Amino acid sequence: MTDRYCVFGHPVGHSKSPRIHTAFAEQFGDDIAYEAIEAPLDGFVDAWRDFIAHGGKGANVTVPFKEDAFRLADVLSSRAQRAGAVNTLVLGKQGDIYGDTTDGVGLVRDLQAHAAPLEGARILILGAGGAVRGVIEPLLAAQPAALMIANRTPGKARQLAEDFADLGETTGGGFDEIVGAFDLVINGTSASLGGDLPPLPDDLFADAALAYDMMYGNEPTVFLRWAAERGARTVDGLGMLIEQAAESYFLWRNHRPETAPIRELLRGEM
Ligand code: ATR
Repeated sequence: MTDRYCVFGHPVGHSKSPRIHTAFAEQFGDDIAYEAIEAPLDGFVDAWRDFIAHGGKGANVTVPFKEDAFRLADVLSSRAQRAGAVNTLVLGKQGDIYGDTTDGVGLVRDLQAHAAPLEGARILILGAGGAVRGVIEPLLAAQPAALMIANRTPGKARQLAEDFADLGETTGGGFDEIVGAFDLVINGTSASLGGDLPPLPDDLFADAALAYDMMYGNEPTVFLRWAAERGARTVDGLGMLIEQAAESYFLWRNHRPETAPIRELLRGEM
């Protein structure tokens, strides 16, 4: 029987995950089916149970169900525990449910693919919501010199910095507390979607700095346009999406897809 996988979300109609995972499966000749399932807002657990009753072996989980998936899992990876969220569920042979999050490793792999400054770098991350919490541990594992988290609500950034302080040099605060120049600036706020940008210092970027937006779209985000005008190299989050998917695929199927051809494929379709 064909192994089934899916992404649960709400809404989920525009998800690129079915396209990505189908392309991965083609690389290996794997016989899988991957679909997007829009679960009702209060019906995530029922949707998962129904899915595994009909051949489901694993799932990606996106907004707004990542915390539901965290609570559903019987066993959590340490990175999922730290993130407080799960984006990948794996059904074990005994029916046990394993929960992991691949967003952070996806970000770091995409940064590496773009030769981003990481080890020994000064990194600034904008935002302190769920998306940012999910990527701090893998970023710190890359051993930056320092990581600053800046957020509209400064207390949330301070709390986040405190939660991860055992893993590396982290500080948190408001946008007005940003000091110095950074080698890598990552936008993890949802602000660039709405078209307004947080108030940021003009001299934010060190020489050869990279600006990365966890969002992506057909057009550069407001943040990336702003960064390009100030001389930074810019990269959007499409590669992160593909890399997190590849890590999920690996968790399910135990082989690792090639991501570069898929990046080309999706860019060509945008
Ligand atoms: P996500 O899961 O995408 O992280 P979230 O947890 O709601 O969603 O977090 C959204 C992030 O974007 C937060 O850091 C939020 O700042 P606050 O913590 O102050 O709310 C940030 N954000 C959203 N709109 C923003 C805006 N217009 N300007 C600056 N930051 C914004």
